[in-house]
Amino acid sequence: MIGTLVATAFWAMLPAYVPNNAAVLAGGGRPIDGGREWRGARLLGDGKTWRGTAVGTLVGVLLALALNRLNDPASAALGAELPTFALPAAFALAFGAMCGDIGASFLKRRSGRERGAAFPGLDQLDFVVGALGLVFLVDADWALAVFRPPVLAVVLVMTPVLHVVTNVGAYALGVKNEPW
Ligand code: CTP
Ligand code: MG
Repeated sequence: MIGTLVATAFWAMLPAYVPNNAAVLAGGGRPIDGGREWRGARLLGDGKTWRGTAVGTLVGVLLALALNRLNDPASAALGAELPTFALPAAFALAFGAMCGDIGASFLKRRSGRERGAAFPGLDQLDFVVGALGLVFLVDADWALAVFRPPVLAVVLVMTPVLHVVTNVGAYALGVKNEPW
């Protein structure tokens, strides 16, 4: 029962989890804010780039389409029906995650944090808020059917744990500059 919930939550959120990690690998090039400052600090900073955002979003959407192809065997193995991703929902999850992360950088710069500084709480949940917020806006029927209250609860508990684990891992591998 709880295993099914965790598997469903993880499956449904994978297209939102992967974009930020893909952006770390793909990042570089022109920053979105073009170097502009606002009130004495960068608008977003050099850590938010067009390339990272585009590649991250694309990877999230492609992952959702790949998961759709794996749905039958995975659902059979689990003994429960895993969600399939409608294209607008897949895009909303992936792009929403990137937007949440960008919004967090905006808030970090406003609060005097340099690029790469930690903002505990925000770092772990910004992309969940962005992904869920956008998917409910774009495809409310799909989002309501998939993110039922117990699934939502698992997402909110599981995501910060996964975020810490993957970022410490990426730091240990030398892929990421900071372990958050
Ligand atoms: N990245 C990117 N575009 C994005 C998000 C991330 O290019 N929209 C890349 C950047 O190379 C960035 C790295 O992924 O440095 C790590 O992402 P993140 O930790 O979100 O950025 P930080 O550099 O820590 O900057 P910030 O303090 O603004 O979070
Ligand atoms: Mg960072």
